[in-house]
Amino acid sequence: MVKLLKMMYLFVLKPIRFFSPYKKRYFNFVFPNLFFLITKRINYKERPICNQKVYLTGGGQIKIGKGCIFGYKIGGFHKGGSIEIQPRYKGAIIKIGNNVATNNNIFICSANHIEINDNTRIGQNVTIMDFEAHGIDPRKRNKVGEIGEIIIGENVWIGNNVIILKNSSIGQNSIIAAGAVVSGVFPDNVIIGGVPAKIIKTIHG
Ligand SMILES: CC(C)(COP(=O)(O)OP(=O)(O)OC[C@H]1O[C@@H](n2cnc3c(N)ncnc32)[C@H](O)[C@@H]1OP(=O)(O)O)[C@@H](O)C(=O)NCCC(=O)NCCS
Repeated sequence: MVKLLKMMYLFVLKPIRFFSPYKKRYFNFVFPNLFFLITKRINYKERPICNQKVYLTGGGQIKIGKGCIFGYKIGGFHKGGSIEIQPRYKGAIIKIGNNVATNNNIFICSANHIEINDNTRIGQNVTIMDFEAHGIDPRKRNKVGEIGEIIIGENVWIGNNVIILKNSSIGQNSIIAAGAVVSGVFPDNVIIGGVPAKIIKTIHG
């Protein structure tokens, strides 16, 4: 029995463990995005570690820095979910800096310009979208509405279930509390939260 378990470890578990880092980079990132990669619309300094399937979609460009991690195995809602990074139209750009880490089930969608700077951490089920997918005017409801941009500074912590809307800017070191709906410009070193998000307090380093 012990011999059988040893054999199983050597021939089954050990090879699976050996291939695990490749699975994260290839099965969760390279293979689902072959078309995007072949058409050279992504530029990365280092292939990200993807603990969840990452889908790159849309007609624009994506830039990813070094040391990024997408998805978190023990973060909840991991199995069956995915992360989608979508510069929706030609000319749209999504820039992700170095050492950005996300939890599971994230949707980043741009019609213009989204920038997430170095060392930012993003919780589960976060949506970042720099445009209105529908017009405000009832006659233009089937057309794309206002298009803006989103800048997220360095070392920002974005809590779970946050939605960041067009024309938002978050200063460095700031925190977006869980469940916030963010629209507007916020300074460095503050905690913002609520719907719509307001400054809850200042962070004293
Ligand atoms: C913001 C947060 C970090 C707490 O910071 P804190 O400095 O400990 O803040 P406190 O708990 O002292 O709360 C300060 C005020 O903010 C309010 N507040 C806290 N979290 C809030 C939220 N998510 N939305 C709205 N208001 C919130 C509190 O009610 C309190 O209000 P009061 O001063 O009127 O009583 C935490 O609430 C949070 O949202 N963390 C993110 C959790 C998460 O998503 N984790 C997973 C991703 S890794």
